[in-house]
Amino acid sequence: MKIAVMGYGTIGSGVVDVLRINRDKIAQRAGEPIEVKYILDLRDFPGDPMENYIVHDYQTIVNDPEIGIVVETMGGVEPAYTFVKAMLEADKQVATSNKNLVAAKGAELIKIAREHNVNFQFEASVGGGIPIIRPLNKCLTADEIEEITGILNGTTNYMLTKMADEGADFDAVLKDAQAKGYAEKDPTADIEGHDPCRKIAILTSLVCGQQVDFEDIHCEGITSITPEDFKYAEVMNRSIKLLASSRKAGGSYSCMVAPFMIDSNHPLSGVNGVFNGIFVHGNVLGDAMFYGSGAGKLPTASAVVADIVDMTKHKNTNIYIDWKPEKLELVDYKDSRNRFFVRTVSDKESIAGAFGTVSYVDAGIAGEIGFTTEEMTEAEFEKAAAQIEVRNRIRLG
Ligand code: HSE
Repeated sequence: MKIAVMGYGTIGSGVVDVLRINRDKIAQRAGEPIEVKYILDLRDFPGDPMENYIVHDYQTIVNDPEIGIVVETMGGVEPAYTFVKAMLEADKQVATSNKNLVAAKGAELIKIAREHNVNFQFEASVGGGIPIIRPLNKCLTADEIEEITGILNGTTNYMLTKMADEGADFDAVLKDAQAKGYAEKDPTADIEGHDPCRKIAILTSLVCGQQVDFEDIHCEGITSITPEDFKYAEVMNRSIKLLASSRKAGGSYSCMVAPFMIDSNHPLSGVNGVFNGIFVHGNVLGDAMFYGSGAGKLPTASAVVADIVDMTKHKNTNIYIDWKPEKLELVDYKDSRNRFFVRTVSDKESIAGAFGTVSYVDAGIAGEIGFTTEEMTEAEFEKAAAQIEVRNRIRLG
């Protein structure tokens, strides 16, 4: 099997490394050797062992009938979309790690692949090296999936863990995460939650079989989380995690990305550092947990190469993926119910007037009051919170 890799950055070079490191085992499992014939990149790589494989025009790959599989690790929607579409239309199979592309164009690319009797696979787009896409497509097919809640961003989980354990500074831990190759090129996508938002949109699309637009999902990042919040979390025996969740509600799903203070008994509470964890609840399965390396060069490349192996075994066979282009209207997040932890400079009388019964939390921080609310809808919370002066609020999980 001759393949091409589009994008020789962190993940693309990881794919080349994995194919070299585990060459024999991969060939054994795929039924034939996998050989890189081209690497597409804008740059040249003088001195790199793959220097002579670099090409700059994607048409070189499109027009080479020997290429059976193309890996897309460029990131971003364009020009990745144009290139991937051209590859599928030229009857080549495609594996991608690019969640931006999959969230925006997944349904369409799956349809094009089906029309050409090839495959478009994207295991690495969610959860790095953790198998989650293939389990949802192939293993959990007997179930109505009622909930998916995940820690789906390694960078922010790494940052929150360091902040909790070491009281480390936000900017310093972000730089560290970037240096380790976890963060996106523009870390805004990580710290503002846009990256896990796309990932939960992909997972929800797969379980409902329709297009879920990430723009419709309420999304908050971790930039408002402070060292004081961790002090309250410690008193409450909770940890602060950026959760991406999707819950079946009526004929649709209620989705959200936001930081939560989760109890030490929560299944995701032990997911620390760059690890990701994905909790899935099915109506007949009950609970399942997927846990492992959620970001980084080799773990993500491992998932891409697993797609290459699967597609090598399925030449001329489209593996059906139930993700139709028809859009699913999500439930308004303002109707979802949560308990909240709140920090305020208002007095107890005002708090009681706005929220009724609350439980106070003392973390020894002067000049403010911390409390937790009863369960209420997002809309009810907003209305009550507008009556006092809120410093920060974090949902409880
Ligand atoms: N920036 C992403 C993360 C990479 O930190 O999880 C993996 O998708």
